[in-house]
Amino acid sequence: MKTLVVGGAGYIGSVVTRLLLAEGHQVTVLDDLSTGHADTVPAEARLVTGDIAEATKVLAEGGFDAVLHFAAKSLVGESVVNPSLYWRTNVIGSRALLDAITEHHIPRLVFSSTAAVYGEPDQVPITEDFPTRPTNAYGATKLAVDMMITNECTATDLAAVSLRYFNVAGAAYGVGERHTTETHLIPIALDAVAGKRDKLTIYGDDWSTPDGTPLRDYVHVADLARAHVLALTAAEPGEHLICNLGNGNGFSVLEVMKTVEKVTGLPMPHTVGPRRMGDPARLVASAARAQQRLGWLPEHDLTTMVADAWAFSHPDLAGTGE
Ligand code: UFG
Repeated sequence: MKTLVVGGAGYIGSVVTRLLLAEGHQVTVLDDLSTGHADTVPAEARLVTGDIAEATKVLAEGGFDAVLHFAAKSLVGESVVNPSLYWRTNVIGSRALLDAITEHHIPRLVFSSTAAVYGEPDQVPITEDFPTRPTNAYGATKLAVDMMITNECTATDLAAVSLRYFNVAGAAYGVGERHTTETHLIPIALDAVAGKRDKLTIYGDDWSTPDGTPLRDYVHVADLARAHVLALTAAEPGEHLICNLGNGNGFSVLEVMKTVEKVTGLPMPHTVGPRRMGDPARLVASAARAQQRLGWLPEHDLTTMVADAWAFSHPDLAGTGE
């Protein structure tokens, strides 16, 4: 297929770009490089540097079979203190992209949605028909885009799939997380054992979970990428298919820390701080629908995610642990 990957210079978008190319698809990446990196876009893909509003110009070239939409602000904490940035970037940007998709009759869309749309669930694992009650602006804006896509699919023949990611981790094809402002647990924990930061701060140990720290469902970026390729052909025209992507297992912050210590063979300097605004206690996916509709089963466990992230972020130290 001829694909446009919007936000393809970011962590997840650039891994998906590599898998698309490996499977014989043609890829144009559109990215404003506000958080992405031009050097993560492989030479076999065409890079158009520009805002999401430029999508209409690119799609006007003709012949595109699908758009994969990754471009978004995606930090929960930042979204709580600066909601305007999230509503403007995520919702208005996506609206412009959807209009371009409709105008140029693009038949397929795959959208990066998030587990954050569910907020604090009454129970886990979370299925796609759980109530959506986001506890932060990030989740609210992604939910708004999901709703816009549903409306668009009703009004047109667009076949769309929203993939609700749980906690993405690991590295693939030599691409891992390198955010200018890192907020994610695994990269921060790896920097703490490597001595690149003083310590890891646990955001609260008084949550209503077995060990008092929040539970998250970690999914390897390589597994996640495969789901996108499967999603390209999963929806019928006029259908908006929504699938959770997770392993179905919850790991606490303390369990992740132990895994990091085991993989690296290094002790974790840490302290306990206050809870972070907008964090739910537990987010664990049911991946049953992704299995049924996409034929997707995650293959990588938490140890592999940590080991791959470690080899990517600290190649000089990797190989010291188990
Ligand atoms: N945490 C710490 N200390 C840190 C960083 C994180 O204790 O220094 C904790 C958080 O409180 C949370 C867990 O580790 O309980 C995971 O935090 P991350 O920041 O790695 O990930 P989030 O769960 O906040 O968010 C991620 C994605 C979101 C997505 C969400 C859905 O970044 O886009 O998963 O599960 F919405």
